Amino acid sequence: MTWLSAILLALMLSVTFQGAHCDLQVSPPGPTLVNAQVGRNVTLAVSFSGASDPVVRWFMGNLPVVTWTIGSSTPPDIPNVHNEVLKIEPDGSLVLVNVQLGYSNNYTMEITKSGLGTASASFILKVYESIQNVTLSTQPDYATEGVDKFTLLYSTLQGEAEQWMWFFNGVEIKTNSHYSVEQKSLVINRPKRNDTGQYTLFLTNPFSDVTTHKNVTVLYGPDEPILEASPAQSFYVSGDSLSLSCQAEGFPQPSAEWVFGGQTLSDSHKGVLNLTNVQPSQGGAYTCKLLNEKSGARRQRNMTVYIYEKPLGNPLCSVKSANNDDLQYHCHWSGGAPKAQLSFPALSNSSSGAGHLSLTVTASDDLNGKTVTCIADHPLQQNKCNITARSPMEFLPSVRTTVDLEGKVVVTIQCISEASPKAVVTWSRGSEVVTNGTKYQISADTTQLRIRDYNISSFLLKNYTCTCRNPLGSQRRDTRLQGPTISDSSLFSNQDGTVITLTWEVPPTSVVTGFDIQMKGPDLLSANHNGSQTKGGSNEYRSIQRKPGSARSTDVSVLDPKSIYRFRVIPRAGMTEGEPSETHRIGPGEGLSGPAIAGIAAGIPCSLLFLLLLIGLIYFCVHYFKKKSRQTRYPVSRAVEKAVATQPDITPHKLLTGGLKSPPDYNILHHAPSERSVALPTFVPPPPVRFATTV
Ligand SMILES: *[C@@H]1O[C@H](CO)[C@@H](O)[C@H](O)[C@H]1NC(C)=O
Ligand SMILES: *[C@@H]1O[C@H](CO)[C@@H](O)[C@H](O)[C@H]1NC(C)=O
Ligand SMILES: *[C@@H]1O[C@H](CO)[C@@H](O)[C@H](O)[C@H]1NC(C)=O
Ligand SMILES: *[C@@H]1O[C@H](CO)[C@@H](O)[C@H](O)[C@H]1NC(C)=O
Ligand SMILES: *[C@@H]1O[C@H](CO)[C@@H](O)[C@H](O)[C@H]1NC(C)=O
Ligand SMILES: *[C@@H]1O[C@H](CO)[C@@H](O)[C@H](O)[C@H]1NC(C)=O
Ligand SMILES: *[C@@H]1O[C@H](CO)[C@@H](O)[C@H](O)[C@H]1NC(C)=O
Ligand SMILES: *[C@@H]1O[C@H](CO)[C@@H](O)[C@H](O)[C@H]1NC(C)=O
Ligand SMILES: *[C@@H]1O[C@H](CO)[C@@H](O)[C@H](O)[C@H]1NC(C)=O
Ligand SMILES: *[C@@H]1O[C@H](CO)[C@@H](O)[C@H](O)[C@H]1NC(C)=O
Ligand SMILES: *[C@@H]1O[C@H](CO)[C@@H](O)[C@H](O)[C@H]1NC(C)=O
Repeated sequence: MTWLSAILLALMLSVTFQGAHCDLQVSPPGPTLVNAQVGRNVTLAVSFSGASDPVVRWFMGNLPVVTWTIGSSTPPDIPNVHNEVLKIEPDGSLVLVNVQLGYSNNYTMEITKSGLGTASASFILKVYESIQNVTLSTQPDYATEGVDKFTLLYSTLQGEAEQWMWFFNGVEIKTNSHYSVEQKSLVINRPKRNDTGQYTLFLTNPFSDVTTHKNVTVLYGPDEPILEASPAQSFYVSGDSLSLSCQAEGFPQPSAEWVFGGQTLSDSHKGVLNLTNVQPSQGGAYTCKLLNEKSGARRQRNMTVYIYEKPLGNPLCSVKSANNDDLQYHCHWSGGAPKAQLSFPALSNSSSGAGHLSLTVTASDDLNGKTVTCIADHPLQQNKCNITARSPMEFLPSVRTTVDLEGKVVVTIQCISEASPKAVVTWSRGSEVVTNGTKYQISADTTQLRIRDYNISSFLLKNYTCTCRNPLGSQRRDTRLQGPTISDSSLFSNQDGTVITLTWEVPPTSVVTGFDIQMKGPDLLSANHNGSQTKGGSNEYRSIQRKPGSARSTDVSVLDPKSIYRFRVIPRAGMTEGEPSETHRIGPGEGLSGPAIAGIAAGIPCSLLFLLLLIGLIYFCVHYFKKKSRQTRYPVSRAVEKAVATQPDITPHKLLTGGLKSPPDYNILHHAPSERSVALPTFVPPPPVRFATTV
């Protein structure tokens, strides 16, 4: 019974089962996502229910690769290409033997039983190799700051990564605006210098993991350089020494060179340029050129070095006349670097000049005598000069006379009027304007008029007028020339009466080219031919000396103290003789005649009174001359001495017959060439009262 009932139960159960599981079912007992390593065996395991011996079909993707009826003795239908790899288990599970990468795919198992339908199960198979020989490369080769992007790429010799992670200096990198992590690469957008560091790539798949490092250096720079001069000064003075330095950040350290005036200065070292004993020509823009030799990036920057030099000396001010009516003020300061800035603030606030300034203003009375200052501004020195324009001052013409080589008398009239700007002189004779020619010659500076003629009387007819003019005014003077004239003369004798000195004066406008010294009386004793001399006295005046126009005194020796001599001076102008001077007598006789002695004897009582009168007279004279010396005097031309050359001093012994010789050198006589200031012979103080009387 129990056996029967057991069979029944089994039958019933079997019927119940069959009735309950009338649909086909397939279920994977394990995971449907299967990772496999290359070369290993992998089983996609399934179990099914609901039918016996169904038809099993495996699809790789959509492609059927295995068809088999479970339990059948016919071998499964597997294409040859998969023959080696794909095997089917009796329970329908698929085994992949020595699986290769190409078998990574979606696998579907489908069972079919006629009358029951179809059931299926799906698997995903991933076949992995272990990751090996990972290489990190970059693109471009060097990371450079500022480029668009920099990419780190990896490649593996073997094995695909399922996961990858990038780290920068140990910190994981996530995709953001700066980085983008892609499947095979890491892109750094706009890399910066602080992206320099160690990059790490961590690759994993289910069967391996690999860590790879790469050090990346971002090239940068040259950054904006820092240019410095040491010592730091706003300017340098010629002769100074300084050094310029140029430093800029960068990787690798940029090279620096200095360029001046288009030329690279080879003597700079690591951006330091030493300049010694600088000159103004070395002032200007210095350019530092920097180069990153690896990235090729360049940069340059200028620095201006100012080298100054003091102008030479002091500024010079002057004033000139322009267009007759205008004054041209000049200010000049030569040399220097830069040129000094010059201005005449009193004249104009808008005009200035560098090194030289010329300012033209209309002459006006308020400029006459006004001191105008030129302000000269130079970084090393401030200076100034001033100039005063003046109308011509009062003046007196001077006259001098010479004889030229042709024997013509040359009268030079000079009109110099102190004025600023210098006065221009115009000349006229009477009412005619004198023009430059042969008879009348006007010196280049117009201050001198030379008149040349044989005929003295032609000089004397008309007045000569000179007009000194500058834009501020004019002064005129007439000169009336006089013929040869002696205005005053005197005679002094030494104590023993052997030597006399004659002195004379001529009026300032007198035309005189020389003097004849004439004597009446016995012949002079010759110092050399003592005794052998003929004492042939004469009652005629005869010339014993001829003196040049500049002479104002002469000595005559040797006189016989016991004889009476008379002397006079004849002024000459060329061939023309003027009026003789008064006659001076010397010798015994009249001076000590009886009446004279009697007079002196009688005069003794009166001499005290006379002495008092004399003292009074001297006092008066001193007072008078003091006063007179303050008044304008005729300037006595110094040029008179020059005229001596054209008229040799004819010494008496050449001129006269007889044994006349130069006076013996027994006394130092002062042959002063001219002027009142003739030093009187020291050996005989002349008495205040002349004792020589006119004959
Ligand atoms: C894989 O299966 C084949 C055949 O069944 C066997 O010869 C081989 O040893 C197996 N390989 C491994 C790694 O188990
Ligand atoms: C496998 O199936 C998944 C969906 O289940 C699909 O996304 C994938 O593309 C398939 N793979 C292949 C190799 O067909
Ligand atoms: C791959 O790496 C291994 C050791 O890691 C090395 O022996 C082999 O030479 C490398 N292969 C190549 C092609 O670089
Ligand atoms: C990379 O950089 C790290 C530290 O930044 C250093 O320790 C390492 O030696 C570097 N590697 C190479 C190949 O330079
Ligand atoms: C410039 O001068 C400094 C100090 O005087 C010296 O150390 C440096 O070597 C000089 N450089 C050059 C390029 O001569
Ligand atoms: C720098 O100096 C050079 C040469 O004098 C000049 O050509 C250039 O324009 C200057 N550049 C600047 C930025 O001043
Ligand atoms: C220039 O300016 C100064 C002071 O500012 C003034 O005293 C002077 O009169 C001015 N000169 C002229 C010509 O305007
Ligand atoms: C003229 O200049 C000198 C120095 O150059 C100065 O001493 C003097 O005071 C100036 N005179 C006037 C009136 O400015
Ligand atoms: C007058 O002429 C002479 C030469 O004939 C010349 O040297 C002089 O400069 C002239 N004077 C003037 C004011 O032109
Ligand atoms: C000199 O000139 C005057 C006037 O011009 C004249 O009368 C006289 O005859 C002239 N004398 C000689 C020598 O030419
Ligand atoms: C010449 O000038 C003087 C004054 O210096 C004057 O008295 C005289 O009348 C003038 N003579 C002539 C001819 O103009």
